[in-house]
Amino acid sequence: MCGIVGYIGSRSAKEIVLNGLKRLEYRGYDSAGIAISNGKTEVFKCKGRVKDLEELVIRSGVDGTTGIGHTRWATHGEPSETNAHPQVSYKGNFVVVHNGIIENYSQIKRHLETRGIHFNSQTDTEVVAHLIEHLYLEGSLTPEQAITTALENVEGAYGLVIICTSEQDRLYAAKKGSPLVIGVGDGENFIASDATPIIEYTNRVIYMKDDDIAVIKRNELSLKTIRKQVVQPEVQELDLKIGEIDKEGFPHFMLKEIYEQPRAIHDTMRGRILPDNAGIMLGGLHGVIDRMVNAHRFIIVACGTSWHAGLLGEYIFEEFTRVPVEVEYASEFRYRNPLLGKDDIVIAISQSGETADTLAAVKLAKEKGALVFGICNVVGSNIPRETDAGVYTHAGPEIGVASTKAFTTQVTVLAMIAFELGYRKGVIEPEKYRNLIRELAAVPSLVRRALETNDQVLKVAEAIRNTSNALYLGRGFLFPVALEGALKLKEISYIHAEGYPAAEMKHGPIALIDENMPVVVVATKDGTYDKIISNIQEIKARKGKIIAIVSEGDGQISKMADYVIEVPETLPVFSGILAVIPLQLLSYHVAVMRGCDVDQPRNLAKSVTVE
Ligand code: G6P
Repeated sequence: MCGIVGYIGSRSAKEIVLNGLKRLEYRGYDSAGIAISNGKTEVFKCKGRVKDLEELVIRSGVDGTTGIGHTRWATHGEPSETNAHPQVSYKGNFVVVHNGIIENYSQIKRHLETRGIHFNSQTDTEVVAHLIEHLYLEGSLTPEQAITTALENVEGAYGLVIICTSEQDRLYAAKKGSPLVIGVGDGENFIASDATPIIEYTNRVIYMKDDDIAVIKRNELSLKTIRKQVVQPEVQELDLKIGEIDKEGFPHFMLKEIYEQPRAIHDTMRGRILPDNAGIMLGGLHGVIDRMVNAHRFIIVACGTSWHAGLLGEYIFEEFTRVPVEVEYASEFRYRNPLLGKDDIVIAISQSGETADTLAAVKLAKEKGALVFGICNVVGSNIPRETDAGVYTHAGPEIGVASTKAFTTQVTVLAMIAFELGYRKGVIEPEKYRNLIRELAAVPSLVRRALETNDQVLKVAEAIRNTSNALYLGRGFLFPVALEGALKLKEISYIHAEGYPAAEMKHGPIALIDENMPVVVVATKDGTYDKIISNIQEIKARKGKIIAIVSEGDGQISKMADYVIEVPETLPVFSGILAVIPLQLLSYHVAVMRGCDVDQPRNLAKSVTVE
């Protein structure tokens, strides 16, 4: 979603801010803007891509040593130059970029309109800019006081970076609900909505906390809370390398991330499997293990692909811990007054750690007294900071909007937790426990082999590239994988795709099947294999085109399917991690063949920071 980058120092702000905006493109956006200060402050905005904005700025010849930039994902008002940020206050004293949503913007807007203030855009951000200006002019406040007072009056979420045009030596920044990271340089400072635009300049960062207001100068920075208490900045060293956010020769981030999965899963397990596969040691369980072992119920909350990982987690947890699990869309959970008891554990899964609904679900569960456990990828993000305990997936930065390595690493963490709890509860015998760990340790190399299906997948992609619909079926551990495969296809190739439990097909989707309907059947060897064979027969009887994902050496389904993709055999519990690989590749190739923007699909955002 929206991205922010700001710079103050002695280098070309134009270059640093534009470069930063390009690094933030992965979040998804529809318009972009920049303000550059050099004595005066000039603003450039456009609908469309950062490269269009870059042309505008280069043509103008403007540069300076202070700048702020923004990529906007429309919420209030359509994508347009007027609605793009920065928004400028009515007398031009404040230039504002904003992530998040101001919930009481219409009341403030009405109030300001009665004072004769005119609005150009439909954004909630312009309301903030005008409110600050109004307080500054009418209340005879300093810029800092005007900003603080304005923020006392707004409700909702914000990450704000503000230039006051009469104070060219500083940037103001304020955070509540929407992330902001300050990059601490030598004689220069940076600010951004995540660390990706910063790390090529400095690895020293400060994660702003809710209600912090920062004054950022070239050689100095100070932090206060909105209640004017001084805050001691906590500088952290980031362990993120610039190479990790480059495509490294791959045409798209998504493809790079698909191919990174053997390493990513390995990193997820690194240091967490004891020598000789003797046990699992997850630091995040330390301190909460007794409550986890004695839990009466687990409730998994998540969105999108993380929700699919959670659904697979339900199958894994129930099988290996024998404790009931519920999987909830975070957006539903948070608004339905959920019933939570003290023996319930809420597990929040999120790649970004910033998804607004998941974050709100975490806060609600905490308020209700549940222990909240996080499974996140982005270190230091909001959700891990809010949860009582948790485990990072350590998958490395995921830039492609369509999530891939997040899914397989989340499932890996869920399996590790389930095995550990099951073993401690006595549900899993010691020998089985060690066998599970041994098989888990082999998963990265099996994923590497699953990636070798790429050539076969290309042929399937060629065959279905012009379809308008596709159906994905799976059972048991492979049902969530069918959902994930369908989501991948619709996200990036815009083909309508539905995932279904294979047997449920008879209750509806079977009506859609004819010779034009590709049906992807995820049917690797597990307890439901025989059952899915009858489902395949039902599809064949209606002339559906069957694409089967099977285990290596499969004799039966291979004979029935139009296209067969074989992945290595493994234990059923890990079959989803392997079977999802060709599905990720399939959606990728179909999207490329259809000329779609794989890394930034239309209307989607990487990090959904609004509800
Ligand atoms: C967005 C992304 C998805 C992601 C979902 C949840 O919709 O486009 O790829 O699965 O958010 O994100 P999270 O960061 O919470 O896993």
